[in-house]
Amino acid sequence: DSSVIETDVLIVGSGPAGSSAALFLSTLGIPNIMITKYRWTANTPRAHITNQRAMEIFRDMDIDDQVLADATEHGLVGDTVFCTSIAGEEIGRIRTWGTGADREADYQLASPCLTVDIPQTYLEPILVKNATMRGTQTQFSTEYVSHEQDADGVNVSVVDRLTGQAYTIRAKYLIGADGARSKVAADIDLPLVGSMDIAGSMNITFKADIAELVGHRPSVLYWVIQPGSNVGGIGAGLVRMVRPWNEWLIVWGFDITQEPPVVDNAAAIQIVRNLLGMPELEVEITGTSLWGNNEVYATHLQKGRVFCAGDAIHRHPPSNGLGSNTSIQDSYNLAWKIAAVLRGQAGPALLDTYSTERAPVAERIVKRANQSGREFADLFVALGVTDAETEQEMIEQIEERKANTPEGAAKRAALVKAMAIKNYEFNAHGVELGQFYTSTAIASDGSTLPEPERDPDLYYQVSTVPGSHLPHAWVGDHRHKVAMMDLAPYDHFTLITGVAGSAWEAALETVGRELGLPVKTVVIGPGHEVTDLYFDWSRLREVEESGALLVRPDKHICWRSNELADDPESALREAFSTILSRQ
Ligand code: FDA
Repeated sequence: DSSVIETDVLIVGSGPAGSSAALFLSTLGIPNIMITKYRWTANTPRAHITNQRAMEIFRDMDIDDQVLADATEHGLVGDTVFCTSIAGEEIGRIRTWGTGADREADYQLASPCLTVDIPQTYLEPILVKNATMRGTQTQFSTEYVSHEQDADGVNVSVVDRLTGQAYTIRAKYLIGADGARSKVAADIDLPLVGSMDIAGSMNITFKADIAELVGHRPSVLYWVIQPGSNVGGIGAGLVRMVRPWNEWLIVWGFDITQEPPVVDNAAAIQIVRNLLGMPELEVEITGTSLWGNNEVYATHLQKGRVFCAGDAIHRHPPSNGLGSNTSIQDSYNLAWKIAAVLRGQAGPALLDTYSTERAPVAERIVKRANQSGREFADLFVALGVTDAETEQEMIEQIEERKANTPEGAAKRAALVKAMAIKNYEFNAHGVELGQFYTSTAIASDGSTLPEPERDPDLYYQVSTVPGSHLPHAWVGDHRHKVAMMDLAPYDHFTLITGVAGSAWEAALETVGRELGLPVKTVVIGPGHEVTDLYFDWSRLREVEESGALLVRPDKHICWRSNELADDPESALREAFSTILSRQ
């Protein structure tokens, strides 16, 4: 068939999962085509909180500067407010995303990057542009219809939506990054757990300069407790900053068991005025949409040569800001594995570890995000507004927290507790960073992850037990300061050792040559290219100076040796044979 087009990897979808998969594959030099249904990228701001792991990935891809240039900086994201309206009474604040002095150190110690805010309308074009510049064939207005796979590849039927012409793309692998209503996931029958459309939400985007009401308490999120704000939605009414301080997005809930509300311009203006507490405000409504909250995760993420990533495998509300971040991290886990198999460096069984490693992450984040939404109930209970039937009743209940009465005191104490719970949504550092992998692509040394010293959802605990993410430290020399992650680029396996472990280097070179695998050794210590500037690394590495850590392209430690092996070559050969499924 003359109209068959061939490529190594076909990606369906140009959202965070798809466009980042394309970027990673093109950066690795793997031919790929990305098709997407619409003529351009996301047309509404959607996901925005961009966490440390996602920023690290952008740093690894050398696009962090581009992302930061379009992002709202870390310092402006975190004075999160709870109020009766933006102009009305403030109930309290919580410092979020590690901006509080008590948490900032945890975040700084964990990563060279900090959380920022970049709406999807700004992020996707950066990902698509860089992917395309590096080699991706990007086809807009092109729809995935169906696929058939055989032993060597996948035939994918697509339609050019401009001409209506159908054609086939033959790919060695197919990635379905086609979002929460994924057709690819349905076509390979991914096992999905949970329910879709469990609550109703509407998004209203609008322009209004309200700097004087928010500039002194800068945040991306302002939560509003008003009559109706515990119906449907994501926990409470939300006024979300899109651009400081004149572009906004409101998320407001509705009862999904009833007829969907009609949100015309007048209705949208009314909701904006209510949540802002400014009945006369002139607003420009720029868009409205209705969406359903989901609580769904896939327990297996692939079938044969077809993989799904992003919302296709985890569907959940925006609470905890995990959607786009996790989608990007899925693709980061998958892309190097596909490249290694395509290049014959790894056996095809390496690809099975995508599900083994990422399905538990999908489950964890879907549950966490939904629980965070539900935990807003504590705040409503603390304020005594859960059963308030009229606006007046609600106002009286909220007012009671001011009273010098036992009831007032009880309410104030309950508020302190309810607010602390919100750390599980807004400072859940352990959920954001604490991804630990157990699979055949991790060669265990028999050790297990130490018991967490603090709450594992709130606090991230570093370790070098194989399966852990490479700990962060600043290292370098008298001219350069680099992060540990900078030493382990995406196109290499990197062995990290100390001066006494220098003998690993020759061994790794031999084994790398045998396997046709790009490898590098980094010796950290005085007299070498990189020194342990602050003596942090020697405390973090958990192995002797002569020991070694082997780091995968995605920065997870896949093997370690406590000290220099008697026969470093065979130790490494054996490790790679497991990790790369070469037996
Ligand atoms: P995503 O949905 O971004 O992308 C899917 C891609 O697949 C699109 O490019 C689409 O064109 C393409 N596609 C679908 N079917 C196709 C087909 N048959 N053929 C070809 N292409 C196809 N999150 C958050 O944290 N805060 C928020 O406020 C919001 N708000 C929000 C609003 C709305 C309206 C939506 C839809 C989603 C959100 N989200 C959100 C969720 C967030 O957007 C989501 O987690 C990420 O975009 C997931 O990225 P993916 O790349 O997996 O899917």
